[in-house]
Amino acid sequence: MREHIEEVLFSETQVVEKVKELAVQISKDYQDKNLVVVGVLKGSVVFTSELIKYITVPCELDFMSVSSYGNSAETSGVVRILKDLDSDIEGKDILIVEDIVDTGLTLNYLLKILRDRKAQSIEIVSLLNKPARRKADIEVKYYGFEVPDEFIVGFGIDYAEKYRNLPFIGTLKREIYNK
Ligand code: IMP
Ligand code: MG
Repeated sequence: MREHIEEVLFSETQVVEKVKELAVQISKDYQDKNLVVVGVLKGSVVFTSELIKYITVPCELDFMSVSSYGNSAETSGVVRILKDLDSDIEGKDILIVEDIVDTGLTLNYLLKILRDRKAQSIEIVSLLNKPARRKADIEVKYYGFEVPDEFIVGFGIDYAEKYRNLPFIGTLKREIYNK
């Protein structure tokens, strides 16, 4: 797998340090709240798991799954719910955990759905932010790193369902996704 990586952008140590920083900030902001951490499957699973280990306030964990890219590197703009939350979020403080915000269309759609459910608050934490291709104007309250307009994999983030298990974050060689 390593030979498919063009460049390592953030090492495992760098990523884990950043995740800890985010968790410290989140723990401060969510004192005396009803925090529900909502991981967006599957890309944010590794990040979500790492993040909650360092959150020091009580929190619940739930997951949602929406389709976005399929197996291609380009967004289709078509988003649908594959798995909904298990629990009611009325009155809760929702923190949506994403792997990477690219066009923002996926989160824009998720926010629209969740806003109807009378949560007390809804915020977003994303491990990565790729602002170059943003189409929807969404506010990402917390993010780990900004990344260039390249195809990113690792730490949960895939290309065609592979590379999620890389412990670092890197760019994929062009010849892999242009194949
Ligand atoms: P958006 O709707 O364009 O913001 O895309 C959001 C989703 O697309 C992310 O949660 C990822 O699953 C996927 N995605 C966006 N950029 C990349 C990338 O560079 N590598 C892998 N997946 C990506
Ligand atoms: Mg995703």
